[in-house]
Amino acid sequence: MKRELWATRIGLILAMAGNAIGLGNFLRFPVQAAENGGGAFMIPYIIAFLIIGIPLMWIEWAIGRYGGSKGHGTTPAIFYLLWRNRFAKVIGVFGLWIPLVVIIYYIYIESWTLGFAIKFLLNLVPQASPEVEDPETYLRPFKEFLTEYKGSGDEFLRPSLYAYFVFLLTMAINVAILIRGVSRGIEAFAKVAMPTLFILAVVLVVRVFLLETPRGSAIEGLNFLWTPDLSKLTDPGVWIAASGQIFFTLSLGFGAIITYASYIRKDQDVTLSGLTASTLNETAEVILGGSLAIPAAVAFFGVANAVAIAQAGAFDLGFISLPAIFVNMPAGNFLGFMWFFLLFFAGLTSSIALMQPLIAFFEDEFGLSRKNAVLMTAGIVFFSAHLVIFLSGSLDEMDFWAGTIGVVFFGLLEIILFLWIFGGERAWEEINRGGIIRIPRVYYYVMRYVTPVFLTALLVTWAREYIPKILAETHWTVWVTRFFLIGLFLFLTLLVFIAEKKKAKEVEG
Ligand code: PFF
Repeated sequence: MKRELWATRIGLILAMAGNAIGLGNFLRFPVQAAENGGGAFMIPYIIAFLIIGIPLMWIEWAIGRYGGSKGHGTTPAIFYLLWRNRFAKVIGVFGLWIPLVVIIYYIYIESWTLGFAIKFLLNLVPQASPEVEDPETYLRPFKEFLTEYKGSGDEFLRPSLYAYFVFLLTMAINVAILIRGVSRGIEAFAKVAMPTLFILAVVLVVRVFLLETPRGSAIEGLNFLWTPDLSKLTDPGVWIAASGQIFFTLSLGFGAIITYASYIRKDQDVTLSGLTASTLNETAEVILGGSLAIPAAVAFFGVANAVAIAQAGAFDLGFISLPAIFVNMPAGNFLGFMWFFLLFFAGLTSSIALMQPLIAFFEDEFGLSRKNAVLMTAGIVFFSAHLVIFLSGSLDEMDFWAGTIGVVFFGLLEIILFLWIFGGERAWEEINRGGIIRIPRVYYYVMRYVTPVFLTALLVTWAREYIPKILAETHWTVWVTRFFLIGLFLFLTLLVFIAEKKKAKEVEG
C-alpha cells in the first residue's frame, strides 16, 4: 500500500509546529517556571533546548523520514531497520506505548478546555466581586467550579455529566480530523489552526500586558521570569524540570515526531524544517506562553501569591486563576472564552499527533484501511480514558511514567540506536541528506556524546530520588494504574509480533 506524504513544505512545518505547540506551552511551561523560581529556570531551560531539544529534533526527523522511505512510520519497525535484532522491536514498542499513554490523559484535559470555552461563551461561569482581599477567598468559587466539573475524591472521581459529554465531543472532533488522513486531515487542519492560535495568543498577550492592579503588573511578572538567578544552577531538580519541559513541549521522545516525519518525501530537507518547527514552538512557549499565565497572575495577585498558586497544582493557574482574573476585566467572559479556545486549538493539533503513531502502526504493519485504523485507535483511547476520568491519581501516574521518565529513557535509546548502532557517520549523512542548511559539525559531537551523557545523568539522578518513593506508594488506585500500564505495554508488544507473523505469511503466500 502506498503511504501518504505531506502535500506542501509549509503544511509539514505547520503540522509539526502544531504537534509541538500544545497545552504544554501554555499550561505546563508557566507552572514549571514558577515552581522553579522563575529566573532560575530559564538558563537550564535554554541549555536543555540547545543540547537536547535541537539535536533530538533532527534525529527524530531523520529517523522518521528514513523509516517512511521504507514503508514504516512507527518505531518497532523502524528500530529494526536500524538494528537487525529482535530486541530492537521490543524497544520500539515504547514508541507506541508512550504516545498512547499520554493521549489517554491529554485528550481528557483537552476536553476540559473545550468544556470551559463553551461555558464562558454561554456565560455559565462564576462571577467575582471586584475586591480582592485575600486570593484564597477570591479564588474559592472558581476552584469549586473546576472541582464540580472534573469531580474529586480519594478513590473515585465524579465528573459532571457535562464533562463526560464534552469528552465524547472532543474524541469525535479528533476522529473527524484524523479520518481524513495526513495531508487532507492533519495538514489541512494545521494550516487553519496554527495561524488562528497565534492570533488568539497575541491578542491575549496584549490584553494581559495592559493589566495593572495595586498588587502588581504584568511587567513584574516578566521580570520574575527573566531575571536570571544563578544561585539555583547547582540544584539538580531545576535541571530535571527544565529538561523534562523541553521533551514535553517539543514532543520529543514520544515517537510522534518520528511518525509525522515518516510522511516526508525521501530527499526533502529536514535540517532547516526541523529547526523552523522547533523555533516556532519555542516562540509560542517563551514569548506567548511566558507572557500569559504568569504575568496575568502576578499582575493580579502579586509575585508571592502567583508562585503559591502555581505550586498548588498543575491546573490551578490555567483553570482557576486565569478565569478568576478574566471575569474581573471588561468583556471578561469573552476573554475567558478566547483563553480556553486557544488552549483547545493548541491541544487539538497535539492530540491528533499523539494518536497518529498507533494509527500509522495499524496501517503500515497490519494493512488496515485509514478508517479502520483510526476507529481502532480511537476505541482503545476511549476505553482507556475511563481510568483517568474516574480513578483518582491515575492521571498523575500516567504523566509520570510515560510523559516524564519514559520520554527521557526513550530519547536516550533513540540516540544509541541511531548514532551508535546504525553508525555515527551514517546517521550524520542521513540527517543532512537533502538539507537546505548543513548542520555545524559540533552538533555531531553533541548528538553522539553530550546529549546521551546528559540524559544518562538525568535518569540516574531521577532513579535515586524516585525509586524509594515509588515502592513506598501504597494507594490502590496508583497500583491499578501501574498494572494497567504494564498490561498496555504487553498488549502492544503482542500486536507487534502478530504483525510480524502476518507479514511473514504474506511473503510466503
Ligand atoms: N508538545 C505537546 C505540548 O506541549 O502540549 C505535547 C505533545 C504532543 C507531546 C504530541 C507529544 C506529542 F506527540
